[in-house]
Amino acid sequence: MTNLQTQKPKYTLQDWQRGYESQPNEYDYWIDNIEGEIPKDLNGTFFRNGPGLLDINGQSIAHPFDGDGMVCSISFKNGRAFFRNRFVKTEGYVAEKAAGKILYRGVFGTQRPGGWLANIFDLKSKNIANTGILYWGDKLLALWEGAQPHRLNPQNLETIGIEDLDGILRSGQTFSAHPRIEKGKDGKGDILVNFSVKTGLSSIITIFEFNSQGKLLKRYSHSIPGFAFLHDMVITPNYCIFFQNPVSLNPLPFLLGFKGAGQCLKFLPNKSTQVILIPRDGSKEMKVLPTQPCFVFHHANAWEENGEIYVDSICYESFSQGDLAGDFREVNFDAIPEGQLWRFKINLSENNVEHKLVESRCCEFPTLNPNNVGKANRYLFMGVAEQLSGNAPLQAILKIDWLTGKRQVFSVAPRGFTGEPLFVPFPNGVNEDDGWLLMLMYDAAENRSDVVILDARDLEKEPVARLHLKNHIPYGLHGSFTSHYFGE
Ligand SMILES: [Fe+2]
Repeated sequence: MTNLQTQKPKYTLQDWQRGYESQPNEYDYWIDNIEGEIPKDLNGTFFRNGPGLLDINGQSIAHPFDGDGMVCSISFKNGRAFFRNRFVKTEGYVAEKAAGKILYRGVFGTQRPGGWLANIFDLKSKNIANTGILYWGDKLLALWEGAQPHRLNPQNLETIGIEDLDGILRSGQTFSAHPRIEKGKDGKGDILVNFSVKTGLSSIITIFEFNSQGKLLKRYSHSIPGFAFLHDMVITPNYCIFFQNPVSLNPLPFLLGFKGAGQCLKFLPNKSTQVILIPRDGSKEMKVLPTQPCFVFHHANAWEENGEIYVDSICYESFSQGDLAGDFREVNFDAIPEGQLWRFKINLSENNVEHKLVESRCCEFPTLNPNNVGKANRYLFMGVAEQLSGNAPLQAILKIDWLTGKRQVFSVAPRGFTGEPLFVPFPNGVNEDDGWLLMLMYDAAENRSDVVILDARDLEKEPVARLHLKNHIPYGLHGSFTSHYFGE
């Protein structure tokens, strides 16, 4: 039996907090401090985006989600790895760097200094480009769901500018940070599926499907009633699936300068979560079905099986404004519900949705073999807490084998902190778990970050390699991998 919880002492809040110190510097170097060996057949570039600044010249931002996007690239070639990081030179980043102070309000509560009078009716939003990173159709895009992407030069990570995808995105149109990639079948290339949301009293979801050269194949829109906070989506061969969280938005405190827009969300525990199924053939037969009230940022995967649709999602039992109040560094983990993995079974002929808890351990950032996106997956990987129950920082990676029920854990507790793992299949992999897991982790003992390469077949083995960076990278959000090499 696997020992799923090591007997390591618990983390300290001080250690965890240090991983949220700003990294204002930009680096380029070969990584030369390595434990283990980088596989010679791991070739390509691991990109990762996340907030790089948690303060502007000493003025703290209110929440990491408001932090300026900083993209890292770790490029692998012939057993070596080259590290680079660059801020996305957004209009807001450049202006605040020049001014040496906060000039913009953030969605998650960052305010201009000077109290509410300095913020009232200031509805300008800062496109912080901090959430996702995608290399598609020869373009590297830093994604933030509130606005258009920024295009970067993949070779040096310098910012080229706001990107409209060859005229497809209108000025200011949003483009989600959670695209899904459907692997090509029948000799066809991969398809990128992403979405845009315009929300208010009702909401319009627009789906875009692109071929592997970045050419738009399809665009279709649907309107749904009510305000919609839609961070993520899952796809199957026939559907795009969204969960509309049961939240309302009272914009008054935002308009009056007291709160960020994201702090004006109110969770409605007596209202259902709405499962929205949008057919990918462009027909108007959208379906909306109620299910258990819960709050979802991230889905793991969805698939169709025997006429039913399954969705695995990380659900929070609530989402309170209190989660976004005060200094995020002083968070009381015990006071906030943890994310847990739920499985939803959607029966379209009976119009009902069943749900069950499938993993109770505190988890986030699910990932799987990219070849299984939209199809049944045997294996799932995600960041988890070291402790088996309750809310805590992510300090381990969990592998679940749905076929056998077996769980495996790779832990960096007590002084290490994990985030999103990324699955990169072996070049000639056969089995679904034939691949590496790549991740950036923060090592509080050394105040630096490591790039960790795990053998996804067996998380209990020592890491394949642990690459010690010369610097720390604040906890980040999402990454992606391309087989193109963009190192020195
Ligand atoms: Fe996300």
